[in-house]
Amino acid sequence: MAADDKRKVTVLKLRRQKRQGKKTVLVTAYDYPQARISDGAGVDAILVGDSLGMTTLGHKTTIPVTMDQMISACEAVSRGAKSAFLIGDMPYMSYQISNEEAVINAGRFVRAGMDCVKVEGAMTERIKAICDSGIMVMSHLGLTPHTRAKLGGYRVQGKTAKQAEIILKQALDLQEAGCSFLLLEGMPRESAEMISSKLRIPVYGIGAGDLVDGQLVIFHDLMGLFWEFKSKFVKRYCEAGQIMLESLKQYVSEVRQGEFPAEENFYAIKEEELEKLLGGGNWKHDKIVYETDQGFPTNHSATPNTTQVGELAGVGH
Ligand code: KIV
Repeated sequence: MAADDKRKVTVLKLRRQKRQGKKTVLVTAYDYPQARISDGAGVDAILVGDSLGMTTLGHKTTIPVTMDQMISACEAVSRGAKSAFLIGDMPYMSYQISNEEAVINAGRFVRAGMDCVKVEGAMTERIKAICDSGIMVMSHLGLTPHTRAKLGGYRVQGKTAKQAEIILKQALDLQEAGCSFLLLEGMPRESAEMISSKLRIPVYGIGAGDLVDGQLVIFHDLMGLFWEFKSKFVKRYCEAGQIMLESLKQYVSEVRQGEFPAEENFYAIKEEELEKLLGGGNWKHDKIVYETDQGFPTNHSATPNTTQVGELAGVGH
């Protein structure tokens, strides 16, 4: 993956894509390999989402996720993604308490390599404080998991004209407060389109139809690595979990059958050292001919019996 070759995606590019009607592609990532893969595939932006609580830590919701967990994930993602625009998701109670705490916590995301933070809900005062401190904010409206109890559960939002108007009003206020992007989650495409068409800033959707400026999907949903439920808006592009399961079953079987490790996996020992090792004469050993000293034998079958391996293990190496 040639992540280093690509130019860094900036807010200017993302704004330009909106003006040109070019769709922006966003995905979540929570660690270094996911970031490298996503960056290598050419996504425009990566959200280090607090969905990490469910996809990676096995929680039922995002509520238990802490600042420290988010920061550690952001640092790993920023090491893996050289090009994508990076957004750090502010977890539950990291921005609600006061403007001061919101700004301090947003600053931690920037130190961890993020270009922007995402904040759930119409928290205009908090968002203004973060924006005023010079940190870019993506607001998140519609289905907002931090307030799911207040919404009566994970329910599609903006299903009536009145609800859509309320969300539009919140979005306009947040744009006015200085936020740079809006994310709409879980709403009909027509409501999302109406809101998007009235905003200057780029508006992205997750489960909000095809008429917004770009799409976000959760990495584990795309890849078949999340099994608890599958939302209607999700399309699985592969079954990575199934591929991993089959591969691990093969590993289990090969170890048990003595097929792995094989000669290409062994490190070489010099002839004279082997002679010393075998000096006591209490080893059963089929000689291997090593091509070089570098550690890769050309044919195999050094198979000390298990008792002797046990003895050696106690000596250490
Ligand atoms: O945490 C996350 O991944 C999110 C998306 C579901 C929008 O907030």
